[in-house]
Amino acid sequence: MRISVIGTGYLGATHAAAMAELGHEVIGVDVDDAKINRLRLGQVPFFEPGLPELLSKHVATGALRFTTSIGTAAEFADLHFVCVGTPQKKTEIGADLGYVDAAFAALAAVLRPGATVVGKSTVPVGTAARLATEVTAAGGDLVWNPEFLREGFAVEDTLHPDRVVLGVPRPDAADRLLEAYAPILTTGIPLVVTDYATAELVKVAANSFLATKISFINAMAEVCEVTGADVTQLATAIGHDARIGHRFLHAGLGFGGGCLPKDIRAFMARAGELGVDQAVAFLKSVDEINLRRRARMVDMAREMCDGSLAGRRIGVLGAAFKPNSDDIRDSPALDVASTIQRSGAAVRVYDPEAMVNAKDTHPALAYTPSAIEACRDADVVLHLTEWAEFNELDPEHLADVVHDTKLLDGRNALDPHRWRAAGWTFRALGRP
Ligand code: UGA
Repeated sequence: MRISVIGTGYLGATHAAAMAELGHEVIGVDVDDAKINRLRLGQVPFFEPGLPELLSKHVATGALRFTTSIGTAAEFADLHFVCVGTPQKKTEIGADLGYVDAAFAALAAVLRPGATVVGKSTVPVGTAARLATEVTAAGGDLVWNPEFLREGFAVEDTLHPDRVVLGVPRPDAADRLLEAYAPILTTGIPLVVTDYATAELVKVAANSFLATKISFINAMAEVCEVTGADVTQLATAIGHDARIGHRFLHAGLGFGGGCLPKDIRAFMARAGELGVDQAVAFLKSVDEINLRRRARMVDMAREMCDGSLAGRRIGVLGAAFKPNSDDIRDSPALDVASTIQRSGAAVRVYDPEAMVNAKDTHPALAYTPSAIEACRDADVVLHLTEWAEFNELDPEHLADVVHDTKLLDGRNALDPHRWRAAGWTFRALGRP
């Protein structure tokens, strides 16, 4: 089948390569010349394990091509996936639909009658119904198909999703899409075919639930901190109840990235417009708990510097919003590092993959080529993104490098016994 994918960021580039892997002929479209030129060479402009191999494999055979021309895509394909971003607005908590609106307007102007357009971007409920009138006027059908991939596992999640959700105006509108997804669906993955509003809400409800689960355990961490209890043991114990489960119950610096923070805020904004703001008012607490963890981390670093960060040297391990990603959007690590630097400390940051992006958005911080260099002469070391590489650091070796053997684990991922046995003062969020 001939497919176009409009928008070639984390979602679109992965989706395009995955569709080629399913045996389709795919053309990826983006307005960014530089990005398209790199993709044409088979290079992925961001860090995503497994994607460079998949992309270059299909670019090499010609099954996957890239263009900046939406007209070329409309001529080539009758199935179009819209995968552009919906970031938070600059000065409000609502979603900026500028890229989605521009992509649909451009596509509708050149769409071949009878084509199927599939929306994958995360949008406020009600958006699909509005965009459907545009697609229908151009002679096409709109299907809403939210995406649930996680960065770091994008290829795996796209080829082997937990579920496929389709919002349709009538059942046969999804026929072409079901044919394209047949290799995925034959493996027995649950398929939910529903209306537009439900499909849109499934996405924001799922991300809101995940964010709530993380903030719940981080709220427990706050209570643990004043009672001397250990949130990691508490999470293990409650997670043994299968109804609760262990996943997304990892207490620490909280959630960041290009999805959970902006999605819960956009949901609150949309609920306000719909007059049901009370229904999701709890998300404000979820957001606040999450941001309080960052403030607590800064306070603990200050405490470990005997009350003042001014003139201190702080080594920061991690800049990405989570490991196995170079994404620094709304990164808790960079937020904490910047706040500490603004308090007068000299902050040196190392991240295995996110250095280029971090330097770009946070040029005032100092960056080092290795974890050891970030820690050199540090008064306190902060562990802010749980890359496997940091777990392999040797506490005894690092003790010879730092000024003071003080470590603050913001991700509850390092072994306190190991560090304390090597003479370190080891503190972490939510545990003694
Ligand atoms: C999230 C969802 O997990 C995906 O299902 C969804 O498709 C995606 O957003 C999206 O909307 O596109 P992602 O942003 O890649 O995926 O990251 P997650 O793995 O969900 O992690 C989000 C943040 O929560 C990270 O900062 C992570 O460090 C933090 N986290 C996660 C915790 O603090 N504790 C946990 O137990 C789990």
